[in-house]
Amino acid sequence: MPDQLNDIKYVIEMAAEKAHAETSTEPEPELTQPLNWPIQCTLGPGLEGAIACESKIGYVNGTKGWLIYRGYDIFDLCANSTYEEVSYLLLQGQLPNTKELKAYKKKLIKYRPLNKTLRLLSGFPVEQMNVMGALRLGTNLMRQEFTYMDREEGRAPSVDAISSDEDSIPMETVPKGAKKATYEFKQEDPPKTKQEKQLQDACGIDACYHLISGVATITAAIARIRQGNMPIEPVPELSHAANFLYMLTGRKPTPIEERIMDISLILHADHGMNASTFAAMVVASTLSDIYFSVGSGIAALNGPLHGGANEQVVNMLKKIGNPSNVSAWLDKELKNKNKVVGFGHRVYKAYDPRARILGPLAELLVKDNHKAVSLFRIAKGLEKEVNVRLGAQKKIFPNVDFYSGIVYSCLNIPPEIFTPIFAVSRVSGWTARVLEYLQNNRIFRPRAMYTGEFNKKIMPRDQ
Ligand SMILES: CC(C)(COP(=O)(O)OP(=O)(O)OC[C@H]1O[C@@H](n2cnc3c(N)ncnc32)[C@H](O)[C@@H]1OP(=O)(O)O)[C@@H](O)C(=O)NCCC(=O)NCCS
Repeated sequence: MPDQLNDIKYVIEMAAEKAHAETSTEPEPELTQPLNWPIQCTLGPGLEGAIACESKIGYVNGTKGWLIYRGYDIFDLCANSTYEEVSYLLLQGQLPNTKELKAYKKKLIKYRPLNKTLRLLSGFPVEQMNVMGALRLGTNLMRQEFTYMDREEGRAPSVDAISSDEDSIPMETVPKGAKKATYEFKQEDPPKTKQEKQLQDACGIDACYHLISGVATITAAIARIRQGNMPIEPVPELSHAANFLYMLTGRKPTPIEERIMDISLILHADHGMNASTFAAMVVASTLSDIYFSVGSGIAALNGPLHGGANEQVVNMLKKIGNPSNVSAWLDKELKNKNKVVGFGHRVYKAYDPRARILGPLAELLVKDNHKAVSLFRIAKGLEKEVNVRLGAQKKIFPNVDFYSGIVYSCLNIPPEIFTPIFAVSRVSGWTARVLEYLQNNRIFRPRAMYTGEFNKKIMPRDQ
């Protein structure tokens, strides 16, 4: 078995070498300078090109195909760390030492069971609900689990809010910065050490740990309920990835399955100011609490322009049916100006590093899975054809969703759970960026250009 785990490390290291070789001639990083407000930038619709804040959490370089969390390359993190370490890194700014990791894992394990939340959630027709809707509901219900600040006296003091009346012009008011989230945990065990105190105090960090554990528990419970089964109790001895797979499928995963799930979670943990992260930050910037923020991230992720393409990829590959059909199928799609799902990216104009890792991992997994082998062969054929036709010309390459559906199918995860898994991982990026933004908070308030009419008069209704 250790051989197979070594194989995983090896394929990631090979993918990293290829990535570095293929992009070494591309220009050096952009968007890495400290900001001196006010700044000028060129904007497109939907705030495209807008710079809203500084961040030390993660960096995406679309031209070079780089993804970096807190200074560490995604390939290095996938080869040499776990999701527990990466989520700690995103939230705390550095990788944990042995003692810190032990304490963090203990916290995550403590927060896994969500008895009250699941009892409340099971009062809803979960099996008929939109899965992401059920997850968002469950996340909001989690506020009740350990907390007390959702009562009236828990509201943010208005003195902490920054002037943002309807007519305020950007930069007119000086950012003041709210130093704390409005959310607090009841301190059941008063902190004994300085480090424990830091963990408990800093901007509701316990709520972040609670959410990282809880979104996984709720997702697994929703999957079980939808299959007509009871949710499964978490197992404290298992890692985050292994416990999630166990609660989802009812079977303890093999070390290979556990490691591949773990890497998938690392790969999806953060990705710049994407729509769901932005949605979470906008909600937090009003000094709402972090459960509502994460609920908003989940809501944004539900849209087909953001999450969910991996499920469509699997359906597309099934429709193509055979590697020999790829060329004719692609001719037809491109002739009809259809976009091929799982290819192209708003930011990456190079091969998405996440797809570079997930492709070889899918290949390792399908070896033992007869049904998935044929899907994988079709995917490889399609990747080759699209690369030839659109790679050099339009910079269209596989994105993170292209191989993740095959990976999840091999892990026995039902397709409707693919998008919730994105949330299970991204909750660490959402919460890390929310906490960082709150350190120097300013309520988000872009403006629209009014192109409507003026001077209209109300006429009597019958005219
Ligand atoms: C992700 C996506 C929305 C990014 O779009 P974008 O950066 O705005 O790119 P545009 O839509 O402006 O496309 C630029 C050009 O590439 C083409 N293109 C982009 N993605 C393509 C795809 N998946 N297949 C074929 N052509 C594609 C466009 O047709 C356009 O061609 P044109 O210049 O001849 O009109 C887009 O690539 C897409 O829809 N991909 C498929 C869905 C998907 O996999 N989503 C998951 C993303 S992680």
